[in-house]
Amino acid sequence: MEFTIKSGNPEKQRTGCVVVGVFEQRRLSAAATQLDKASDGFLSALIRRGDLEGQAGQTLLLSNVPGILSDRVLLVGCGRERDFNERGYQRAVNAMMAKLGECGATDAVCYLNDLNVKGRDLAWRIRDAVQTIFTQRYRFDQFKSKPEAPRRSLRKVIFNVPSRRERAAGEQAVREGSAIGRGMDLARDLGNLPGNICTPTYLADRAVELAEKLPNLTTEILDQPQLEELGMGSFLSVSRGSRQPPKLIVMQYRGGAEDERPVALVGKGITFDTGGISLKPAAAMDEMKYDMCGAASVFGTFQAVAELELPINLVGIVPACENMPDGAANKPGDIVTSMSGQTIEILNTDAEGRLILCDALTYSERFDPANVIDIATLTGACVVALGAHAHGLFGNHGPLVNELLSAGRTTGDRAWEMPLWDEYQEQLKSNFADIANVGDRSAGAVTAACFLARFTKKLRWAHLDIAGTAWNSGKNKGASGRPVPLLTEFLLRRVAD
Ligand code: BES
Ligand code: MN
Ligand code: ZN
Repeated sequence: MEFTIKSGNPEKQRTGCVVVGVFEQRRLSAAATQLDKASDGFLSALIRRGDLEGQAGQTLLLSNVPGILSDRVLLVGCGRERDFNERGYQRAVNAMMAKLGECGATDAVCYLNDLNVKGRDLAWRIRDAVQTIFTQRYRFDQFKSKPEAPRRSLRKVIFNVPSRRERAAGEQAVREGSAIGRGMDLARDLGNLPGNICTPTYLADRAVELAEKLPNLTTEILDQPQLEELGMGSFLSVSRGSRQPPKLIVMQYRGGAEDERPVALVGKGITFDTGGISLKPAAAMDEMKYDMCGAASVFGTFQAVAELELPINLVGIVPACENMPDGAANKPGDIVTSMSGQTIEILNTDAEGRLILCDALTYSERFDPANVIDIATLTGACVVALGAHAHGLFGNHGPLVNELLSAGRTTGDRAWEMPLWDEYQEQLKSNFADIANVGDRSAGAVTAACFLARFTKKLRWAHLDIAGTAWNSGKNKGASGRPVPLLTEFLLRRVAD
């Protein structure tokens, strides 16, 4: 899909379709009013007749409207004008795309981004529309022998801006939205791949490929002997129950000054989580192929950052392995020594994410990062706490946490802060080692974060638990591409500072 920016009157557009908004109680938007004037009241007559109330999500497609140069006019209902917010805007863009997909137009000029969305400027509206369109068009059908997708003729969406002066800002918004959209698509693809294909080795190969394709990016893969050398006893203990060799994927993007401290992103890369000897129940276990979505979001963010050639330094660290039960697997009660030197009693082998992340977090210290953010499908408890709408956010540095919260609010890819208080650390006491890998049943998302906090004392660190947000279950099962928008926005703002 191609996106461009243009400024001009809606009645003068020679295009497959002009798209304008109509609010509830039949109120025409500015662009719709212009079309109405040019067509001698054609639109207002239709609307008076009751063809479109303007309710959110309603659409009306018209052909051969008199006095108008485009082949078609699409009216999109936007709900009550006073209530028109981010969600209403996204709904309107989705309604537009659904209709454009069916109507046969090969290009369209969109005026929805001219509508006033409370507190959001033109650049936000264009960037958000681009991201919404990527998400709306995403398909994962590479394993269907006959593609089911219907014929789609739409190839180009043109966003109208009020005057030439806004063109540059509009074009930058398209660039950012497309980079984030492509990053999300990559994260979604990796997430949706089945566990028999998306193995740790596969992820490592894709990381190498990414470095060949994108500017300023290098990738290094550490294999089992090197991980042993580093003393990553905790990470290796998880991987030992699997036939697939573990990989530590290290990506470095150098777009900033030589001496600028990088941001480090650490992504959980469990390519399948059976639970290990603490085996998971069978129901919906297939969804544990998504247990590498933290890793996928790191890949996706690198894709976006490198495509935009942001002047920052970024390190990506992905511990990748499977969590399987076999004769060599961790057993409840086993004690392992992490790279940090702390010993861990593994009371539940299904709490494996923290066991691989702790060593990756310790490893991140060698890059002297300004901030470290880990992203992990870490706990079912986080799904219970926050559901599918917000990531769980924890951190040991207030300004970092606030920046992430704010980046989430801007992009709609929202996080919600949870406590990391010392009181919760009590639950991780072990009778036999420095720390246990699980607490009791209460506050499971918090104690998981508390475990990681033991390994990040030297770092300015935040943790995103994406267990509820990384994929959708049910009929429309599929990876969401989150939190690529939040992370990219966070990094974009470091450039602005
Ligand atoms: N990958 C899971 C967390 C998970 C579960 C994410 C369901 C999304 C949906 C993680 O490795 C895990 O199994 N966590 C355990 C921890 C428990 C044993 C303390 C959990 O949440 O049940
Ligand atoms: Mn698990
Ligand atoms: Zn897991």
